[in-house]
Amino acid sequence: MQILKLGGSVLSRKHGFMQADAASIARLASIVGRAYKAGVRDLIIVHGAGSFGHAPVIKYKLNNGVRTRKQTWACALTHSACSHFSSHITDALIAAGVPAMSVPPADIARSRNRRIVFMDKKVVFDHIKAGYVPVLFGDMIPDSLLGCSVCSGDQIVSYFGKYASRVVMATNVDGVLVHGEVVPHITRGNFREISRHLKCSGAPDVTGGMEGKIREIMKCRAPAYIVNARKPARVLALLIGKKAISTRIN
Ligand SMILES: Nc1ncnc2c1ncn2[C@@H]1O[C@H](COP(=O)(O)OP(=O)(O)OP(=O)(O)O)[C@@H](O)[C@H]1O
Ligand SMILES: [Mg+2]
Repeated sequence: MQILKLGGSVLSRKHGFMQADAASIARLASIVGRAYKAGVRDLIIVHGAGSFGHAPVIKYKLNNGVRTRKQTWACALTHSACSHFSSHITDALIAAGVPAMSVPPADIARSRNRRIVFMDKKVVFDHIKAGYVPVLFGDMIPDSLLGCSVCSGDQIVSYFGKYASRVVMATNVDGVLVHGEVVPHITRGNFREISRHLKCSGAPDVTGGMEGKIREIMKCRAPAYIVNARKPARVLALLIGKKAISTRIN
């Protein structure tokens, strides 16, 4: 089984407020369609929330919990926005020939202090067995300490990563960069040194940007690749088991 994470930084205009990038969504959906036709069937797609998640979480101050009536309303609005955004992506995947089935994390996952403590994995695996491609996304999920909390797409990848043979993280850079060069391989041995070169993305990201992403992926042990989603041929190459410019983690 493979996991493909499509970065919210590519699917949306991350500096905006709830703005999808329809052309980018269509381009990536067509790449997934080509991989599917080439036989990539055991696949989970996870996508980031982009400006449908990070922007309202910042605007309504939802990152430290949901307690007031106003925050409850804002949390519902954010979940709804993330779900609508995901519908754009599943629609594009279906149009590209991929039987995408939306699985909102708020329905199947629970967390405690921002970490997933329960996931109804069977829902996801049953969809795969039945021939669908489940699509999960960064979402607001019920949290036993905080009321509701942000669950990044990266954390969902990390959770399912233990069942995967390969993880492909498509984002808006060629890989992890040090002095402008792509780092070919990050392991536990060199992570500390490389983490000094991880900066904020410049775009709003409430879940740790690139450093948060690498920390999540290192937990899942499967070989993972950070690759540029704006170079779709690279994403396709990795999905079908070929090499492409990217940073390998693990
Ligand atoms: N050393 C680095 N190498 C590469 N990217 C870096 C580095 N340091 C910081 N970054 C930033 O990390 C960003 C990618 O992470 P980000 O979380 O914004 O994207 P994403 O995962 O695609 O979006 P989302 O979280 O919405 O899914 C890049 O745009 C880049 O600016
Ligand atoms: Mg991110």
